[in-house]
Amino acid sequence: MSILKIARMGHPVLRTTAEPVGALSAEIDRLVDDMIETMADAQGIGLAAPQVHRPLRIIVFLDVEQREEAGAAQPLVLINPEITPIGDELALGLEGCLSMPGLRGVVPRHGRIRYRGLDRSGQPVEREAAGLHARVVQHEVDHLDGILYPERMTDLRTLVFESELHHVAGAEGEPRA
Ligand code: NI
Repeated sequence: MSILKIARMGHPVLRTTAEPVGALSAEIDRLVDDMIETMADAQGIGLAAPQVHRPLRIIVFLDVEQREEAGAAQPLVLINPEITPIGDELALGLEGCLSMPGLRGVVPRHGRIRYRGLDRSGQPVEREAAGLHARVVQHEVDHLDGILYPERMTDLRTLVFESELHHVAGAEGEPRA
């Protein structure tokens, strides 16, 4: 396994629409392993393949609610993910991004979603998610469509440096994706 270089805001790979994965292969499996290792090394809770210069529709993320219950969570892998919102409710929450180090912003996201895709063995996955779990998946799938979180923000005054987070009420300690 290898730790991959993470593209930062401004690199065009973050603006491309990622291609669907066709057949799974040893190469895809290795990429997934490297993405998991890269995410862990960067202390992130989510990573999308375009962030490591591979414009393919693959995301890895931690089920953060599971992490809180169990102390540690297995990384989840979703290939060719699709999201369907459940209901109209939007929730505001703080986000960071490994491609925008040092920054955080308050982003509206669907409060509840259903997502589906394939796991790394090619088996279909379908889950409902809410809260931070739903937020991470929406953030990562946006990366597959060339979207960074500031484009989802409705109040750019909440885009702040991590070192200033204590000025944003209730915003400390949120993870990066
Ligand atoms: Ni991100």
